[in-house]
Amino acid sequence: MRRSSEKGNLMKLINAGSLNYDTTYYVEHIVRPGETIAADRTETACGGKGLNQSIAAASAGAAVYHAGIVGEDGADLIQAAKERGVNTAWIRTLSGRASGRAVILLDRSGQNSIIVYAGTNHAFDREYRREILTQAQPGDLLLLQNEINDVPELAAEAKEKGMQIVWNPSPFVAESVEQMMPLTDFLFINEVEGGQLTGETEPLKILDRLKNMEHDMEVVLTLGEAGAYYQDKETRIFQKSYPVKTEDTTAAGDTFTGYYLAEKMSGKRPEDCLKIACAAAALAVTRKGAAPSIPVRKEVVEFFAFP
Ligand code: RIB
Repeated sequence: MRRSSEKGNLMKLINAGSLNYDTTYYVEHIVRPGETIAADRTETACGGKGLNQSIAAASAGAAVYHAGIVGEDGADLIQAAKERGVNTAWIRTLSGRASGRAVILLDRSGQNSIIVYAGTNHAFDREYRREILTQAQPGDLLLLQNEINDVPELAAEAKEKGMQIVWNPSPFVAESVEQMMPLTDFLFINEVEGGQLTGETEPLKILDRLKNMEHDMEVVLTLGEAGAYYQDKETRIFQKSYPVKTEDTTAAGDTFTGYYLAEKMSGKRPEDCLKIACAAAALAVTRKGAAPSIPVRKEVVEFFAFP
């Protein structure tokens, strides 16, 4: 991955991704089919995989441009990104429409289940895609998750412009795999997505399968408490996670992705990117909520000193 674009400008991260209002219900256990349970309390905060990843990367020091679409209720989502240093000039607001939403059940051990409603996250079209890519330079990174529409179209068009494609196939959409895999330069997956992509369940087998694919790409496989792997054609590196008391795992993966990319953009080696990304994710799980749980760089650096 290059540090700067071919035109001599500093490399930037363009993140075309979702912005959601997350309503979290704090429950004793995740509700089972046919069951009705009472929540202890509920809270609404800013989130969405796209917004979380942009906030994490910007908090880690990267130049991040968020491309996304909110409804007329979306001012707080834009503000949340702005406050953490994300460039929000390209975010569109659609009047008469509602922003994306997520319903999160969070149990007492900090594990969650999430339902996402796309809202305006699914309002990407050809004109907006063109508007975003007009601003891109060869070598810039385009980060994509699966909470917006037009992901393969955007990836193909960005690739033609010489951008590098970073894909986090979450939530997993089987139909996009065939188009997206050959376009992807850098893949971020967890164990579940790794299984869905390869048909394997063991982390090392998932990595083997991805390594044997014709297409040459870098892979980061996150395993929650069990740590994370980096892999390219020549290397495989493992990093243990940092043990912490789990409050809420929401956005831990997004925090990892944003921090990893920011470090990589500043020229760090994969082993160093893994370390800082694991530390940032560990801090995120000690806090409640999605975007509000993402640490700033100073906190991550202090955590290294006193884990
Ligand atoms: O990854 C966590 C995010 O998933 C939440 O913020 C929620 O909005 C869903 O997109």
